[in-house]
Amino acid sequence: MKKRFSNQVSIITGGASGIGYSIAQRLGGEGSNLVIVDRDDESGKRTAAELNASGINTVLVIGDVSDEKVAENAVAQAKENWDRLDVLINNAGITGDPGSIWELPVTEMDRVYRTNLRATYLFCQKAIPLMLRNDYGRIVNIASIAGKEGNPKMVPYSSTKAAVIGLTKSVGKELSDTGIRVNCVTPAVAHTAILDQTSPEVVDYMISKIPLGRPVELSEIASLVTWVASEECSFTTAGVFDISGGRATY
Ligand SMILES: NC(=O)c1ccc[n+]([C@@H]2O[C@H](COP(=O)([O-])OP(=O)(O)OC[C@H]3O[C@@H](n4cnc5c(N)ncnc54)[C@H](O)[C@@H]3O)[C@@H](O)[C@H]2O)c1
Repeated sequence: MKKRFSNQVSIITGGASGIGYSIAQRLGGEGSNLVIVDRDDESGKRTAAELNASGINTVLVIGDVSDEKVAENAVAQAKENWDRLDVLINNAGITGDPGSIWELPVTEMDRVYRTNLRATYLFCQKAIPLMLRNDYGRIVNIASIAGKEGNPKMVPYSSTKAAVIGLTKSVGKELSDTGIRVNCVTPAVAHTAILDQTSPEVVDYMISKIPLGRPVELSEIASLVTWVASEECSFTTAGVFDISGGRATY
């Protein structure tokens, strides 16, 4: 089978675990060199070691993705090691604490905003100039079904994920006269560590809303993201790819 990412370079934020790691394995398995960015030192090192041991060239950047210097460093790593950047996966995200808007302090909104939206803005801003050098790039932002539907007791998460969808549409149009495509995906609930951040009631609510009656598998998300990140995704930009088991039909 043809390796769709041979000689390419991909940055994956939040790539140390969960959905990001699953995407890293797929992109790396199809030939991409990787820059993994994560704030978790321990799982970051373990993941990078596993990827390198399996023959996937991986550079690790430890830091908070909402820090401008971390975004700059990630792009600098791609440039210094391989002198190119083909794929950016803005995947790092947090749910924030569960609670109604009148119960949650605004600092919780600020915290979720920094990881989910500010970081996506920063990584796009820093990555695009290097992609433009080759007039080629694929940016895939991991939004959420929560950004389309709005989940109760998840206002910071739902609203910042809706903003990620808006950012994707705007940046995609800005780059429509270039070889860069910018899209997002909106997964339904998947079993990862992120679910520990919210309450069992909220998780049950999210699963109950899925017509297919189950959470999405990480491999199912990685399959879709890999295609959207590939050269094959040539005629969709500023787009929103649904993977919600039928919860959203738009
Ligand atoms: N799991 C789900 O149900 C689900 C559903 C829809 C969308 N998503 C989205 O998918 C993405 C990945 O989620 P996941 O389920 O794999 O979560 P996860 O918690 O399993 O993994 C997230 C990774 O991002 C890292 N990270 C978080 N905040 C960071 C920061 N500020 N700086 C650097 N690294 C940071 C974590 O250390 C972790 O390695 C998120 O954007 C999430 O919102 C998840």
